[in-house]
Amino acid sequence: MTSELGRLIARRIALTGPISVADFMAEALGHPRLGYYRRAMPLGAAGDFTTAPEISQMFGELVGAWLAERWQAMGRPAPVRLVELGPGRGTLMADALRATRAVPGFHAAAALHLVEISETLRDAQEAALGAFKPAWHASVDQVPDGPTLMVANEFLDALPVRQFEKTPHGWAERMIGLAADGETLRFALTPGPSPFASLLPASVRDADLPPGTLAEASGAVAHQATAIAARLMRQGGWALIVDYGRDDTAPGATLQAVRRHRGVDVLDRPGETDLTAHVDFAAVAQAATAAGARVFGPAGQGDFLRRLGIEQRARALKARTSEPAAIDAALARLITADQMGTLFRVMAVGDDRSAAPAGFSDTPSDTT
Ligand SMILES: C[S@@+](CC[C@H](N)C(=O)[O-])C[C@H]1O[C@@H](n2cnc3c(N)ncnc32)[C@H](O)[C@@H]1O
Repeated sequence: MTSELGRLIARRIALTGPISVADFMAEALGHPRLGYYRRAMPLGAAGDFTTAPEISQMFGELVGAWLAERWQAMGRPAPVRLVELGPGRGTLMADALRATRAVPGFHAAAALHLVEISETLRDAQEAALGAFKPAWHASVDQVPDGPTLMVANEFLDALPVRQFEKTPHGWAERMIGLAADGETLRFALTPGPSPFASLLPASVRDADLPPGTLAEASGAVAHQATAIAARLMRQGGWALIVDYGRDDTAPGATLQAVRRHRGVDVLDRPGETDLTAHVDFAAVAQAATAAGARVFGPAGQGDFLRRLGIEQRARALKARTSEPAAIDAALARLITADQMGTLFRVMAVGDDRSAAPAGFSDTPSDTT
């Protein structure tokens, strides 16, 4: 049994032909009534997945300290647009704001802007952050002008990707069509090479790869990275991007589906399943650099958080809790290599030509 949205997508395919993986993802996540992010609460133990700020307050606190330090480095502009892309339950920003209460002038200067498509999550954000009078927007382009501090944790991985398969005749695009029953969704290939393969970087597109090799590219991620960097170049400011992904563009298919904390088939019950793909940080860096911005990282999340002092923060929290083991477990989850410490990457984008911001080594290609 598929979902209501699965039936709608099948009907559209029956009428107009196969759709790209990117169109499928956009529909499955963003359909106005039935899309995954328009429906129930996806985050937390009762939802489908959890995230770093939901694992521990330490994550948002350290991100808050990073943002406040960048604000000071910018010359303490007032107002400053404090922007979060995809804020989830508002936990990261609530922890960041609590941790920066004592930074003189920061809260008075910060105007909070949240970019969010989910009504359910907007309600949760209102509950967590209402005291800071946030303004909500559907896209980053709608945030009013002004110097900007931006954070995006697990936002880019939700943006649509295209998938390609190498054939003896070139790169075909993986599409979603219908099985013989006329209802079941299934993967298919374009009959010939796809013009969208031009989205793949030359290092993949022109490489001598065997037929059957898969590759991904996201025009939506490149567009976001360009929009963020162009804004920072025009208005001044910094963005911190955290996501799971890879530093170099490489062949492979990373699109995955998760429901109730378990991996499921990508085409299974669209609208009821979270779909994400690893972020290609090389493509993000390339788009941001092309817009004139300076890029630091990606660094591993573990290294980034250690450099910001997460171990000291964990010790301080342990000294005043009756459950120190829970703090140790959360710390390990955030920073160790076999958990989130290496797979999750952190990148800073800024308009500045100065030294590396906190958490990054002093070279633009910090790939630790
Ligand atoms: C995986 S959750 C991450 C939530 C939060 N940053 C955290 O770390 O807990 C993705 C967030 O991005 C939002 N989102 C996804 N696609 C979006 C889009 N196209 N525009 C705006 N928000 C989007 C989701 O509703 C959700 O708040």
